[in-house]
Amino acid sequence: MKNPTRIETKRLILRDFVAADWKAAHVYGSDPKVVQFMPWGPNSTSQTRAYIRRVLRLGGEKPRTKFELAVVLKPEDRLIGGCGIRIQNPAFMEGDLGYVFNRLYWGKGYATEAAKALVHFGFSKLKLHRIWATCDPLNKASARVLAKTGMKREGLLRRNVFQKGAWRDSYLYAVLESEHRRLH
Ligand SMILES: CC(C)(COP(=O)(O)OP(=O)(O)OC[C@H]1O[C@@H](n2cnc3c(N)ncnc32)[C@H](O)[C@@H]1OP(=O)(O)O)[C@@H](O)C(=O)NCCC(=O)NCCS
Repeated sequence: MKNPTRIETKRLILRDFVAADWKAAHVYGSDPKVVQFMPWGPNSTSQTRAYIRRVLRLGGEKPRTKFELAVVLKPEDRLIGGCGIRIQNPAFMEGDLGYVFNRLYWGKGYATEAAKALVHFGFSKLKLHRIWATCDPLNKASARVLAKTGMKREGLLRRNVFQKGAWRDSYLYAVLESEHRRLH
């Protein structure tokens, strides 16, 4: 990859995936508890490998609009999760954000640290105007993470995702560049 993405926070490095990451990504991607609120998973090994191949391909697109990044714990260089920000429609300068972490590393503030860094990256480097995310109303930890990035809850999307055999609602969260700028 020509211009790899690397975002450093206090405890984490968010970097582009490499092919060998599939094993660490499979630990969380195959965990039923981790993926309970995701429309995908639990993954087979071939599904995780295909995901990594897709992410590598998207990372090479020009102009790049999809940033799926591995979250690595600094001291031990251990991949503990993934996160991403994607621009669906460049004309609107809007990006959406997501994250998923290995269950062993929940509850330590890592998702908040990664999500805040991605929001900052979205506004400062990608020059976005608005960043949004959705989460299942039952996914209290994710809703809390989104709120801590400065996002506001804008509403409830009714039955908008088909997840684990059922149509589910989602909360919609978003933050505007002007709001982010006021806080930083
Ligand atoms: C959601 C997820 C990323 C959170 O990761 P994390 O590293 O544990 O998050 P953090 O430690 O940064 O913050 C979690 C916050 O949620 C709170 N929280 C956790 N479980 C909670 C619960 N059941 N009810 C209410 N709050 C909860 C924590 O107390 C913390 O808030 P605080 O700092 O104000 O105390 C992680 O649980 C995960 O990977 N889940 C599976 C994938 C997923 O759901 N991704 C999001 C899809 S929208």
